[in-house]
Amino acid sequence: MNKAIEAALFLHLLGVAVWIGGMVFAHFCLRPALGDLAPQLRLPLWESVFARFFNWVAASVLVILLTGGFLLMQFGGGHAAWPLHAMAGLGIVMMLIFGHIRFGVFPRIRRAVQAQNWPDGARAVGTVRRLVVINLVLGVVTIGTAVLSRGF
Ligand code: HEM
Repeated sequence: MNKAIEAALFLHLLGVAVWIGGMVFAHFCLRPALGDLAPQLRLPLWESVFARFFNWVAASVLVILLTGGFLLMQFGGGHAAWPLHAMAGLGIVMMLIFGHIRFGVFPRIRRAVQAQNWPDGARAVGTVRRLVVINLVLGVVTIGTAVLSRGF
């Protein structure tokens, strides 16, 4: 494997680790730990956690897209093995879902926290939770697909 491919794969996997690892931490550790807090404390905390985490995800998405695109060209572009195209397709769906969370749902949480409208805020955080579960499942399937591509 040449050095450029090794470097791109390294960055690609770093981006994947940050994104998937962050979702696992938020969903399985932070969410249950905050469950008993009053909405007045919980929702501003989620807003500030999301504001930071979504910047990390945005950076990861950029790195995954650039390195994934580069790797796909190196592995034959349009003629690459089908699991690589499946990875790209699933990856793009995950990115669209993230875009919806970041630009559609997160502003609702911000507005609700500013207006101290806790029921609205709790609904929006619930929507983020459901979309994160979907992205986590897709992420695991995508990693499986990526590993599968080795056999082709
Ligand atoms: C636009 C999206 C993406 C494109 C174009 C893309 C493309 C690629 C390519 C061409 C490789 C090299 C395959 C090899 O070394 O045989 C790769 C590796 C990998 N990708 Fe992606 N990828 C994308 C998104 C993702 C996402 C979202 C994930 C995980 C959630 C992911 C997980 C992986 C993993 C785990 C590998 C290492 C596979 C291995 O070396 O066995 N990729 N990707």
